[in-house]
Amino acid sequence: MAKSFKYVILGGGVSAGYAAREFANQGLKPGELAIISNEAVAPYERPALSKAYLFPESPARLPGFHVCVGSGGERLLPEWYKEKGIELILSTEIVKADLAAKSLTSAGGETFKYQTLIIATGSTVFRLTDFGVQGADAKNIFYLRDVADADKLYEAIKAKKNGKAVVVGGGYIGLELSAVLRLNNIDVSMVYPEPWCMPRLFTAGIAAFYEGYYANKGVKIIKGTVAVGFTSDSNGEVKEVKLKDGRVLEADIVVVGVGGRPLTSLFKGQVEEEKGGIKTDAFFKTSVPDVYAVGDVATFPLKLYGELRRVEHVDHARKSAEQAVKAIKASEDGKTVEEYDYLPYFYSRSFDLSWQFYGDNVGDTVLFGDNNPESPNHKFGSYWIKDGKVVGAFLESGTPEENKAIAKVARVQPPAESLDQLAKEGLSFAGKI
Ligand code: FDA
Ligand code: NAD
Repeated sequence: MAKSFKYVILGGGVSAGYAAREFANQGLKPGELAIISNEAVAPYERPALSKAYLFPESPARLPGFHVCVGSGGERLLPEWYKEKGIELILSTEIVKADLAAKSLTSAGGETFKYQTLIIATGSTVFRLTDFGVQGADAKNIFYLRDVADADKLYEAIKAKKNGKAVVVGGGYIGLELSAVLRLNNIDVSMVYPEPWCMPRLFTAGIAAFYEGYYANKGVKIIKGTVAVGFTSDSNGEVKEVKLKDGRVLEADIVVVGVGGRPLTSLFKGQVEEEKGGIKTDAFFKTSVPDVYAVGDVATFPLKLYGELRRVEHVDHARKSAEQAVKAIKASEDGKTVEEYDYLPYFYSRSFDLSWQFYGDNVGDTVLFGDNNPESPNHKFGSYWIKDGKVVGAFLESGTPEENKAIAKVARVQPPAESLDQLAKEGLSFAGKI
């Protein structure tokens, strides 16, 4: 017999948790909402996994970082869902979605029916085995997406005390994991193909600070090449990483962060897609009636820039989920809500560093402040200027007020008289907006 719900959220990650809280805020009857997740735990703040979860001392553990603590909200423990009559259907992989029949089928053969579906399946990682990299199925080659992945990596860090790690990739995972492995006293080499780290966002000037800082912390950075093969020992554990430039690095642990892709394959051919994600309107409604998509999988109208975008960051996962639920509830009362008007916000933390970015990283750039990695007072940033207006702002080591000020700049898009003037004024420019 199929289980039937008024609302089903497919996926039990960040968006699912924030959507559940919004449903509860808006008024929900027991038994109306189910969350179906292939993870074994209730929704949690995923960003913790590459940071405090792997700390050598007092690492973060569940239930400590269930949503919505990451944004200063209430912590939703499994009991909370029970109290609200929300069914948490965990360790359940959906393998078939029939949007026309409004039904989902699990790997175990169960069927779930819904009136309204919210797709919140998030992303998965690219694996080196997907690219046919030789030996990439060796033991102790890790990826990081969920708590189960983090637990395996944590065990390996303990087992390979003072060992050697090679981190493949110079993006978010690469930078955050290299730092936390160093904190665990692991010898770390980072390998990535680009001329500088985090090229998706960082300018050469921004990246130079982080590369210098990481080098001072003992991270060896190898740029302009990729891992083309691995050798392993008689236990099948990884032993060496072979690089395209011919170098060979010893490794007890390999962490791979070479990007990801949104999990949309269940819905292929059933719903309109755009830019690799599921196309939605400003209320996260898809092309299929009663089906919404939020978080990493949604390609939505970014009103500020007049174009469709997909955003793979936690702030948008939270806000898109809330927007979709508000829109669903309003439409039941024949009402509407305001269009989603998102200001992109990304951040990262590693060692004692912490940066925030708001807006769009397009156009000319200026760098300001003290970006000497050896300076005890390092504080620096960048502005992005397009068509004479400041459209993006980055700040390392900002105070809460300073971060608020750069967010305002990105939202207001003030005119910039000259790049030189902007570089000279630096943070005080933001303070005046
Ligand atoms: P999310 O990935 O959170 O959840 C998707 C859920 O769907 C998972 O529970 C998954 O198991 C489930 N699922 C998928 N397919 C399924 C199926 N067929 N059946 C059942 N369940 C299924 N961002 C940021 O701004 N700052 C940060 O510091 C970080 N740090 C960070 C660290 C790490 C290690 C990762 C992996 C990611 C980040 N991020 C981040 C990105 C951020 O976490 C991400 O954008 C959000 O988690 C996206 O939320 P979603 O709800 O869309 O997907
Ligand atoms: P990413 O896109 O940030 O970085 C991938 C990096 O790997 C890039 O530098 C890329 O060029 C490089 N690369 C590609 N192929 C390579 C190869 N063969 N060898 C070596 N390097 C290669 O992706 P990620 O760091 O894997 O992160 C995965 C997901 O997790 C993303 O959605 C990201 O937004 C999210 N995440 C976000 C944060 C944050 O916002 N602070 C932290 C962790 C993870």
